Amino acid sequence: MFPKDMLSLEDFSRDALEDIFQRAAYFKQKDPDNFTSLKGKNIALSFWEPSTRTRLSFEMAVHKLGGKVVRVTPELSSEQKGESIDDTVKTLQSIGADALIFRHSTPGLFNRVGSLVDIPLISGGEGCYRHPTQALLDIFTLREKGIDLAGKQVIMVGDILHSRVARSHFYTFPLFGAGLTLVGPPSLLPQELVPSRVDYSYHLEDVLPGGDIIYLLRVQRERQEKGLIPSLSEYAALYGLNEERMSLLKQDACLMHPGPVNQGIEISAAVIKTMEQFYPDRILFQDQVQNGVFVRMAVLDLLLAGRSG
Ligand code: CP
Repeated sequence: MFPKDMLSLEDFSRDALEDIFQRAAYFKQKDPDNFTSLKGKNIALSFWEPSTRTRLSFEMAVHKLGGKVVRVTPELSSEQKGESIDDTVKTLQSIGADALIFRHSTPGLFNRVGSLVDIPLISGGEGCYRHPTQALLDIFTLREKGIDLAGKQVIMVGDILHSRVARSHFYTFPLFGAGLTLVGPPSLLPQELVPSRVDYSYHLEDVLPGGDIIYLLRVQRERQEKGLIPSLSEYAALYGLNEERMSLLKQDACLMHPGPVNQGIEISAAVIKTMEQFYPDRILFQDQVQNGVFVRMAVLDLLLAGRSG
Protein backbone atom coordinates (compact mmCIF):
# COMPACT_ATOMS: atom_id res chain seq x y z
CA MET A 1 0.00 0.00 0.00
CA PHE A 2 2.89 2.39 0.71
CA PRO A 3 5.43 3.28 -1.96
CA LYS A 4 9.10 2.81 -1.00
CA ASP A 5 9.81 6.55 -1.02
CA MET A 6 7.96 9.68 0.03
CA LEU A 7 8.81 12.21 -2.65
CA SER A 8 5.37 13.44 -3.69
CA LEU A 9 1.95 12.88 -2.14
CA GLU A 10 0.51 12.08 -5.58
CA ASP A 11 2.23 8.68 -5.15
CA PHE A 12 0.05 7.89 -2.11
CA SER A 13 -3.55 6.73 -2.11
CA ARG A 14 -6.09 8.65 -0.08
CA ASP A 15 -6.26 5.62 2.25
CA ALA A 16 -2.52 5.74 2.76
CA LEU A 17 -2.73 9.44 3.68
CA GLU A 18 -5.54 8.66 6.13
CA ASP A 19 -3.32 5.96 7.68
CA ILE A 20 -0.59 8.54 8.19
CA PHE A 21 -3.01 10.97 9.87
CA GLN A 22 -4.41 8.25 12.11
CA ARG A 23 -0.93 7.14 13.14
CA ALA A 24 0.16 10.74 13.77
CA ALA A 25 -2.89 11.30 15.98
CA TYR A 26 -2.05 8.13 17.91
CA PHE A 27 1.54 9.26 18.47
CA LYS A 28 0.39 12.70 19.55
CA GLN A 29 -2.14 11.32 21.97
CA LYS A 30 0.38 8.94 23.58
CA ASP A 31 3.49 11.11 23.19
CA PRO A 32 5.99 9.31 25.37
CA ASP A 33 9.51 8.95 23.98
CA ASN A 34 9.61 5.20 24.31
CA PHE A 35 8.16 3.85 21.06
CA THR A 36 10.35 1.19 19.57
CA SER A 37 9.45 0.83 15.91
CA LEU A 38 12.80 2.27 14.81
CA LYS A 39 14.85 0.40 17.43
CA GLY A 40 18.02 -0.79 15.74
CA LYS A 41 17.45 1.48 12.73
CA ASN A 42 19.81 4.21 11.60
CA ILE A 43 18.23 7.07 9.72
CA ALA A 44 20.47 9.34 7.64
CA LEU A 45 19.61 13.04 7.58
CA SER A 46 21.11 14.77 4.59
CA PHE A 47 20.13 18.46 4.36
CA TRP A 48 21.82 20.43 1.61
CA GLU A 49 19.74 23.54 2.28
CA PRO A 50 19.10 25.31 5.61
CA SER A 51 16.27 24.00 7.77
CA THR A 52 15.15 24.24 11.37
CA ARG A 53 11.64 22.78 11.53
CA THR A 54 11.89 19.91 9.08
CA ARG A 55 15.36 18.75 10.03
CA LEU A 56 14.87 18.91 13.79
CA SER A 57 11.36 17.48 13.78
CA PHE A 58 12.52 14.51 11.71
CA GLU A 59 15.39 14.12 14.16
CA MET A 60 12.99 14.32 17.09
CA ALA A 61 10.70 11.83 15.38
CA VAL A 62 13.53 9.30 14.97
CA HIS A 63 14.48 9.67 18.64
CA LYS A 64 10.90 9.23 19.80
CA LEU A 65 10.62 6.03 17.77
CA GLY A 66 13.78 4.58 19.30
CA GLY A 67 16.01 4.98 16.24
CA LYS A 68 19.36 6.63 15.72
CA VAL A 69 20.22 9.57 13.48
CA VAL A 70 23.30 9.76 11.26
CA ARG A 71 23.86 13.32 10.03
CA VAL A 72 25.51 14.24 6.79
CA THR A 73 27.31 17.57 7.10
CA PRO A 74 27.42 18.86 3.53
CA GLU A 75 30.43 21.12 4.01
CA LEU A 76 32.41 18.19 5.45
CA SER A 77 31.20 15.57 2.99
CA SER A 78 33.17 14.16 0.09
CA GLU A 79 31.00 16.22 -2.25
CA GLN A 80 33.64 18.89 -1.50
CA LYS A 81 36.13 16.52 -3.19
CA GLY A 82 33.96 16.05 -6.24
CA GLU A 83 31.73 13.12 -5.22
CA SER A 84 28.34 13.14 -6.93
CA ILE A 85 25.06 13.13 -5.00
CA ASP A 86 24.33 9.73 -6.59
CA ASP A 87 27.49 8.29 -5.05
CA THR A 88 26.81 9.96 -1.69
CA VAL A 89 23.38 8.34 -1.54
CA LYS A 90 24.78 4.90 -2.44
CA THR A 91 27.49 5.42 0.20
CA LEU A 92 24.89 6.15 2.87
CA GLN A 93 23.11 2.91 2.05
CA SER A 94 26.39 0.98 2.09
CA ILE A 95 27.38 2.26 5.54
CA GLY A 96 24.09 0.92 6.88
CA ALA A 97 21.46 3.66 6.74
CA ASP A 98 17.95 2.20 6.87
CA ALA A 99 16.36 5.31 5.34
CA LEU A 100 17.44 8.66 3.96
CA ILE A 101 15.78 11.97 4.72
CA PHE A 102 16.93 14.45 2.14
CA ARG A 103 16.62 18.17 1.41
CA HIS A 104 18.20 19.53 -1.73
CA SER A 105 17.80 22.54 -4.01
CA THR A 106 17.62 20.57 -7.26
CA PRO A 107 14.06 19.75 -8.40
CA GLY A 108 13.76 16.30 -9.96
CA LEU A 109 16.83 14.95 -8.19
CA PHE A 110 15.03 12.69 -5.75
CA ASN A 111 13.30 10.43 -8.26
CA ARG A 112 16.67 9.59 -9.75
CA VAL A 113 18.58 9.03 -6.51
CA GLY A 114 15.66 7.16 -4.95
CA SER A 115 15.90 4.61 -7.74
CA LEU A 116 19.61 4.04 -6.98
CA VAL A 117 19.00 2.60 -3.51
CA ASP A 118 16.70 0.01 -1.92
CA ILE A 119 16.10 1.94 1.29
CA PRO A 120 13.30 4.54 1.61
CA LEU A 121 14.09 8.09 0.51
CA ILE A 122 11.97 10.71 2.26
CA SER A 123 11.86 14.24 0.93
CA GLY A 124 12.51 17.01 3.43
CA GLY A 125 11.98 19.53 0.62
CA GLU A 126 13.08 19.33 -3.00
CA GLY A 127 13.98 22.69 -4.59
CA CYS A 128 10.81 24.48 -5.75
CA TYR A 129 9.18 21.12 -6.50
CA ARG A 130 7.64 19.35 -3.48
CA HIS A 131 7.54 19.35 0.32
CA PRO A 132 5.25 16.41 1.08
CA THR A 133 5.56 16.24 4.87
CA GLN A 134 4.82 19.97 5.15
CA ALA A 135 1.59 19.49 3.22
CA LEU A 136 0.71 16.50 5.40
CA LEU A 137 1.27 18.33 8.65
CA ASP A 138 -0.79 21.28 7.39
CA ILE A 139 -3.78 19.09 6.58
CA PHE A 140 -3.36 17.21 9.86
CA THR A 141 -3.32 20.52 11.79
CA LEU A 142 -6.51 21.77 10.15
CA ARG A 143 -8.35 18.51 10.75
CA GLU A 144 -7.14 18.40 14.34
CA LYS A 145 -8.70 21.85 14.81
CA GLY A 146 -11.99 20.35 13.67
CA ILE A 147 -11.89 22.07 10.29
CA ASP A 148 -13.54 19.97 7.60
CA LEU A 149 -11.82 21.06 4.41
CA ALA A 150 -14.74 20.12 2.17
CA GLY A 151 -16.13 23.35 0.73
CA LYS A 152 -13.61 25.56 2.52
CA GLN A 153 -11.62 28.24 0.67
CA VAL A 154 -7.86 28.40 1.09
CA ILE A 155 -6.19 31.65 0.05
CA MET A 156 -2.49 31.05 -0.49
CA VAL A 157 -0.51 34.29 -0.61
CA GLY A 158 3.03 35.00 -1.65
CA ASP A 159 5.94 33.61 -3.58
CA ILE A 160 4.09 30.84 -5.42
CA LEU A 161 6.77 30.59 -8.10
CA HIS A 162 9.47 29.35 -5.74
CA SER A 163 7.28 27.45 -3.28
CA ARG A 164 7.55 23.68 -2.96
CA VAL A 165 4.87 23.95 -0.25
CA ALA A 166 2.48 25.52 -2.77
CA ARG A 167 3.20 22.83 -5.36
CA SER A 168 2.48 20.09 -2.82
CA HIS A 169 -0.77 21.82 -1.87
CA PHE A 170 -1.87 22.17 -5.50
CA TYR A 171 -2.65 18.49 -4.97
CA THR A 172 -3.65 18.15 -1.32
CA PHE A 173 -6.10 21.00 -0.73
CA PRO A 174 -8.30 20.01 -3.72
CA LEU A 175 -7.93 16.31 -2.77
CA PHE A 176 -9.51 17.02 0.61
CA GLY A 177 -12.27 19.11 -0.93
CA ALA A 178 -11.02 22.66 -0.37
CA GLY A 179 -10.98 25.37 -3.00
CA LEU A 180 -7.56 26.94 -3.49
CA THR A 181 -6.91 30.49 -4.68
CA LEU A 182 -3.34 31.67 -5.25
CA VAL A 183 -2.45 35.33 -4.75
CA GLY A 184 0.77 37.18 -5.44
CA PRO A 185 2.45 39.61 -7.78
CA PRO A 186 2.37 38.44 -11.42
CA SER A 187 6.14 37.90 -11.39
CA LEU A 188 5.78 35.37 -8.55
CA LEU A 189 2.53 33.88 -9.83
CA PRO A 190 2.84 33.14 -13.55
CA GLN A 191 -0.48 32.03 -15.03
CA GLU A 192 1.08 28.93 -16.59
CA LEU A 193 1.89 27.64 -13.09
CA VAL A 194 -1.74 27.64 -11.96
CA PRO A 195 -3.25 24.13 -12.18
CA SER A 196 -6.71 23.66 -13.68
CA ARG A 197 -8.52 23.08 -10.36
CA VAL A 198 -6.99 26.16 -8.77
CA ASP A 199 -7.94 29.88 -9.01
CA TYR A 200 -5.67 32.90 -8.83
CA SER A 201 -5.78 36.62 -8.28
CA TYR A 202 -3.27 39.47 -8.23
CA HIS A 203 -5.37 41.50 -5.78
CA LEU A 204 -5.31 40.35 -2.20
CA GLU A 205 -8.18 42.57 -1.03
CA ASP A 206 -10.49 40.98 -3.61
CA VAL A 207 -10.10 37.46 -2.25
CA LEU A 208 -9.31 37.81 1.46
CA PRO A 209 -12.96 38.17 2.57
CA GLY A 210 -13.81 34.77 1.06
CA GLY A 211 -10.99 32.87 2.75
CA ASP A 212 -11.51 30.33 5.51
CA ILE A 213 -7.80 29.56 5.67
CA ILE A 214 -5.21 32.21 4.81
CA TYR A 215 -1.97 30.41 4.02
CA LEU A 216 0.98 32.82 3.91
CA LEU A 217 4.18 31.88 2.10
CA ARG A 218 7.64 33.23 2.72
CA VAL A 219 9.23 35.36 0.04
CA GLN A 220 12.20 33.15 -0.79
CA ARG A 221 14.92 35.74 -1.04
CA GLU A 222 17.52 33.03 -1.65
CA ARG A 223 15.75 31.94 -4.85
CA GLN A 224 14.84 35.37 -6.27
CA GLU A 225 16.24 36.20 -9.64
CA LYS A 226 16.92 39.90 -10.06
CA GLY A 227 13.90 42.10 -10.60
CA LEU A 228 11.06 39.67 -9.77
CA ILE A 229 9.86 42.05 -7.07
CA PRO A 230 10.86 45.72 -6.94
CA SER A 231 11.53 45.61 -3.18
CA LEU A 232 10.44 43.74 -0.07
CA SER A 233 8.74 46.87 1.28
CA GLU A 234 6.68 47.18 -1.91
CA TYR A 235 5.79 43.48 -1.67
CA ALA A 236 4.71 43.99 1.97
CA ALA A 237 2.63 47.02 1.01
CA LEU A 238 0.73 45.07 -1.67
CA TYR A 239 0.60 41.53 -0.27
CA GLY A 240 1.55 41.62 3.40
CA LEU A 241 -1.12 40.77 5.95
CA ASN A 242 -1.37 43.98 7.98
CA GLU A 243 -4.00 45.23 10.42
CA GLU A 244 -6.04 46.90 7.70
CA ARG A 245 -6.27 43.67 5.70
CA MET A 246 -6.91 41.68 8.85
CA SER A 247 -10.18 43.58 9.19
CA LEU A 248 -11.29 42.02 5.89
CA LEU A 249 -11.01 38.44 7.19
CA LYS A 250 -13.94 36.24 8.09
CA GLN A 251 -14.47 36.09 11.84
CA ASP A 252 -13.28 32.50 12.04
CA ALA A 253 -10.58 32.57 9.35
CA CYS A 254 -7.36 30.76 10.32
CA LEU A 255 -3.81 31.82 9.51
CA MET A 256 -1.16 29.31 8.47
CA HIS A 257 2.49 29.66 7.49
CA PRO A 258 5.04 26.89 6.85
CA GLY A 259 7.80 28.96 8.46
CA PRO A 260 10.22 30.50 8.77
CA VAL A 261 8.18 33.72 9.01
CA ASN A 262 9.61 37.00 7.77
CA GLN A 263 7.82 39.38 10.12
CA GLY A 264 7.04 42.69 8.46
CA ILE A 265 7.04 41.15 4.96
CA GLU A 266 4.32 38.48 4.57
CA ILE A 267 2.70 39.37 7.91
CA SER A 268 3.14 42.31 10.27
CA ALA A 269 4.36 41.87 13.83
CA ALA A 270 1.19 43.65 15.00
CA VAL A 271 -1.09 41.08 13.33
CA ILE A 272 0.86 38.20 14.89
CA LYS A 273 0.65 39.84 18.31
CA THR A 274 -3.08 40.53 18.05
CA MET A 275 -3.83 37.02 16.82
CA GLU A 276 -1.72 35.34 19.50
CA GLN A 277 -3.24 37.49 22.24
CA PHE A 278 -6.90 37.52 21.23
CA TYR A 279 -7.41 34.68 18.73
CA PRO A 280 -4.81 32.00 19.56
CA ASP A 281 -7.00 29.27 18.02
CA ARG A 282 -6.86 31.03 14.65
CA ILE A 283 -3.11 31.43 14.25
CA LEU A 284 -1.80 27.93 13.64
CA PHE A 285 1.91 28.54 13.05
CA GLN A 286 3.12 26.78 16.20
CA ASP A 287 0.52 24.01 15.89
CA GLN A 288 1.97 23.28 12.45
CA VAL A 289 5.49 23.03 13.87
CA GLN A 290 4.40 20.84 16.77
CA ASN A 291 2.42 18.50 14.56
CA GLY A 292 5.41 18.14 12.25
CA VAL A 293 7.01 15.83 14.80
CA PHE A 294 4.01 13.48 15.00
CA VAL A 295 3.31 13.46 11.28
CA ARG A 296 6.97 12.68 10.56
CA MET A 297 6.90 9.93 13.20
CA ALA A 298 3.94 8.44 11.35
CA VAL A 299 5.68 8.68 7.98
CA LEU A 300 8.82 6.98 9.30
CA ASP A 301 6.84 4.35 11.18
CA LEU A 302 4.68 3.41 8.21
CA LEU A 303 7.38 3.58 5.53
CA LEU A 304 9.81 1.50 7.55
CA ALA A 305 7.28 -0.91 9.02
CA GLY A 306 8.12 -4.48 8.19
CA ARG A 307 11.38 -3.64 6.46
CA SER A 308 14.16 -5.97 7.53
CA GLY A 309 17.65 -4.86 8.49
N1 CP B 1 8.67 24.70 6.76
C1 CP B 1 9.96 24.38 6.63
O1 CP B 1 10.34 23.57 5.76
O2 CP B 1 10.80 24.98 7.52
P1 CP B 1 12.36 24.70 7.65
O3 CP B 1 13.01 25.27 6.41
O4 CP B 1 12.78 25.41 8.91
O5 CP B 1 12.55 23.22 7.71
